[in-house]
Amino acid sequence: MSSDLTPEQIAALHQRATEAAHNSYSPYSHFRVGAAILLHADDRQPGAIVVGTNVENASYRLTSCAEQAAIAAAVTLYGPAIRLRAVTVANLNGAACMPCGACRQTILEFASPETAIFYPSASGETVATTLAALLPAAFRLTPD
Ligand code: THU
Repeated sequence: MSSDLTPEQIAALHQRATEAAHNSYSPYSHFRVGAAILLHADDRQPGAIVVGTNVENASYRLTSCAEQAAIAAAVTLYGPAIRLRAVTVANLNGAACMPCGACRQTILEFASPETAIFYPSASGETVATTLAALLPAAFRLTPD
């Protein structure tokens, strides 16, 4: 699946996600994840890249994923009207890493079906897909 992002934009997102993963707080899983989200440009700001990393907790269930952290940071920085053009996930473990189910639902809140998602496959190659492909039957409070 292709996106309308340039190879340079895709590479920049991957680099920013990888950099963010270096700050991962993951003493339990040792799985160091970073996410970089590209926001749609609007009247107030150009399309910015915002990053996040996973922050684990001794309770395990209170862990925040990198994608959730990036989205929370983007709302904090730019407000509740943000829209996601692309989300890139990276990790420092050389592993495949698709957004988890909870993150897909979190992404949906600020995305459209064609929002691009990039993640590493098991072979390390970047897979390009869309939110619609990853979450075809999302929960919605009001039916379409
Ligand atoms: N993790 C993410 O940050 N994003 C995902 O989409 C999947 C999982 C984190 C959560 C936890 O800290 C570690 O990876 C292992 O599950």
